[in-house]
Amino acid sequence: MYKKLEYKEAGKFEETRFEKIHNVVFDNSNIASIAVAQEIADLIRTKQADYKKCVLGLATGSSPIKVYEELVRMHHEEGLSFKNVVTFNLDEYYPMTKENTQSYWYFMHEHLFNHVDILPENINIPSGEVKPDEVHQFCIDYELKIKEAGGLDFQLLGIGRTGHIGFNEPGSHYNSGTRNITLDHITRIDAATSFLGIEHVPRVAITMGIGTIRKAKRIVLLAWGVNKASVIKETIEGEITADVPATYLQRHENVTFVLDEGASNDLTRVKTPWLVKNCIWTDDLMAKAVVWLSSKLDKSILKLTDKDYNYHGMSSLLVEQGSAYQMNINMFNKLQHTITGWPGGKPNADDTNRPERNTPAKKRVIIFSPHPDDDVISMGGTFDRLVEQGHEVHVAYQTSGNIAVSDEEALKFAEVSFDLNGEKSSASKIIKDLEAKKEYDVDSAAVRGLKGLIRRKESVAATRYVGIPDSQVHFLDLPFYETGRVKKDKLSEKDVAIMCDIITEIKPHQIYAAGDLADPHGTHKVCLDALFMALDQLKPESYMDDCWVWLYRGAWHEWDIHDIEMAVPMSPDQVLKKKQAIFYHQSQKDGVMFQGDDSREFWMRAEDRNKETAKKYNSLGMADYAAFEAFKRYHY
Ligand code: F6R
Repeated sequence: MYKKLEYKEAGKFEETRFEKIHNVVFDNSNIASIAVAQEIADLIRTKQADYKKCVLGLATGSSPIKVYEELVRMHHEEGLSFKNVVTFNLDEYYPMTKENTQSYWYFMHEHLFNHVDILPENINIPSGEVKPDEVHQFCIDYELKIKEAGGLDFQLLGIGRTGHIGFNEPGSHYNSGTRNITLDHITRIDAATSFLGIEHVPRVAITMGIGTIRKAKRIVLLAWGVNKASVIKETIEGEITADVPATYLQRHENVTFVLDEGASNDLTRVKTPWLVKNCIWTDDLMAKAVVWLSSKLDKSILKLTDKDYNYHGMSSLLVEQGSAYQMNINMFNKLQHTITGWPGGKPNADDTNRPERNTPAKKRVIIFSPHPDDDVISMGGTFDRLVEQGHEVHVAYQTSGNIAVSDEEALKFAEVSFDLNGEKSSASKIIKDLEAKKEYDVDSAAVRGLKGLIRRKESVAATRYVGIPDSQVHFLDLPFYETGRVKKDKLSEKDVAIMCDIITEIKPHQIYAAGDLADPHGTHKVCLDALFMALDQLKPESYMDDCWVWLYRGAWHEWDIHDIEMAVPMSPDQVLKKKQAIFYHQSQKDGVMFQGDDSREFWMRAEDRNKETAKKYNSLGMADYAAFEAFKRYHY
């Protein structure tokens, strides 16, 4: 795990020769957000003590949610007052009504303003409601208002994958002021989930300019998750360019980027620390370095030479290990031992160098699947092998996944049911509810019920195909998910209790779960948190001593090769079988609602990813397989 850095003042950090912006990496986004909220609270209090107003520039989006939550907590529990606070939000979609749940006006009130004692007249958010011919004047007035308030004391920022800050998309000028702007396609793709489809995402927004933002006396930018890693590297290490507007912040004298581990992943000092400084060579770091060197030089591990190590910042590793020859063999063996066709352990075989134990020969297994399809998408091949090798495999779908079924799909099923069962059936109510539904309306309970049912039946079709009885398929319908909206509730004891119950009932020897950390607010991460909490509670039970946890990655990312502890190869036939199992999830085929930024269908992503892993293993010198599914063990 990357060492947590201290939260130091800007300008008082050890610059690496690659970095141009002060940044701090925290273990996770929660503790990072609390540190940022603390800085804001300190500023508010300092200003209060001097009888001054505190002018805050605020951001929306997923990144600042926990910061606001912490400020609200401080208001309730520590008496932090917002009476002297004046706020200016960065942006708003245009056109957009305040009441629309997608508006930034709504967001700010829901997350902060409704819960603190800020004076309504001190709240400023660009308006999505002004008439088109008034936008120009509105923007000039917004700038003036910030100036009249004395300028921004503090500006909180997120960053888009386009490198936008506020909605200053690529091409924005260094001196730009508040204005309207056309949103970049990538930004619209990223917003598509909350708008339930890209076609609903506005094309235009009003945003503070780069010139407005950089006049702030202090700037803190937040970035969480590996999805942000590459834009963070470009911003911190790249040249200043309008192509990545956040790079303009390199010229600001009091800016800090606050990152979690995922977002810091691509920084040179994190990704390849040996290129920056002398390293303490742990086993993990050594594995990371050798895999990196091998792919950089396009040589298999066993062909790396002393010179290769010396020329790429690893001379100290070479000294420590004695010679490239021995080090290469150690690494080669380490990787080789991750490969197994026996994910549940190979009975009666020596398991000293295998990822799993050989006993008990028949294991009880739970595959936790956040949505009803992650099981087959992410580990369909391994699932199949476990069943084939005689283990008792259970699948537990953690959420109903109802929100991802389109209205058209639900209507189709409702109409079939109506035609079979007639006017008096619940189908007629569902049809009426769907017909009456307006854009952004939450589905009625009946419609949600049907959507959930569609996903259940698809799942059962897939699990029957893989070959497990229906009695081993469990639908947990965790309550945190059941809001009917993209925004979910917080994890509660009820969720954790449901997770504990199923583990207690099955007493598994193996648990598989989605270790997807890309989106800290996403459903996969929440489902993983629910599992971790359940494991914490159940740890004292003796049967848990025999329970190993393996994490797979979801549809978007794969483990880095050096992180993989079990790699399960698939034959071309198994690749086909896995594809077939994914096909049973018909409501998620062809232009699904939560596509993300990847236009490939889920089976294609899964197939490409598994082939890619096999290719990487092969180029490191391992045998040439068709595809691999990869897992990392979690020690609780
Ligand atoms: C929001 C804003 C945007 C977001 C950025 C990141 O007011 O101006 O720049 O900060 O798009 O969004 P999240 O935090 O959702 O990843």
